[in-house]
Amino acid sequence: MRRKYSAAILVLAAIAAPLCLLRAQAPASESRSVWDGVYTEEQAKRGEPIYHKECAACHGDMLTGGESAPPLTGGAFLANWNGLTVGDLFDRIRKTMPQTNPGHLTRQQDADILAFMLSVNKFPAGKTELYRQSEMLKEIRFEAEKPAPKK
Ligand code: HEC
Repeated sequence: MRRKYSAAILVLAAIAAPLCLLRAQAPASESRSVWDGVYTEEQAKRGEPIYHKECAACHGDMLTGGESAPPLTGGAFLANWNGLTVGDLFDRIRKTMPQTNPGHLTRQQDADILAFMLSVNKFPAGKTELYRQSEMLKEIRFEAEKPAPKK
């Protein structure tokens, strides 16, 4: 009886230990948001001319939208993406934009345009460039509101 009991505990421990590890890792990746400096100023500068060439005709020079294209800055845009991730926005651009010729830009060009969009939306620049992989960008939360400073 006793032996059975301890075997069960062993099995439980074997299952639980990796789960604990997973949980311990999760907050580190979950804790990044667009407020944490996820692109560089230089990258945004690189993205600006690509935006003007590829996107501005529809979305406007100031990203405020055009006759049929929605704005890529301001309240409605931020509300649309709030709670999603930078990766979702990246995928949206990669798969559907520019509307007339989707998918002809490289991952690097799309990441640079996205960096420019983040800078226009007043998210802070940082020391590392935006990734080009959607999976990694999916770890960066898109939050419209700046979080309150941690105590
Ligand atoms: C020919 C016009 C046109 C061009 C060029 C264009 N777009 Fe769009 N874009 C649209 C239209 C129209 C919509 C809304 C309809 C739709 O979702 O397809 C849209 C939607 C979007 C959205 C979704 C906005 C939201 O809040 O849901 C994003 C992001 C976007 N475009 C980014 C870009 C980027 C980045 C480029 C340049 C690489 C670009 N677009 C080029 C017409 C265009």
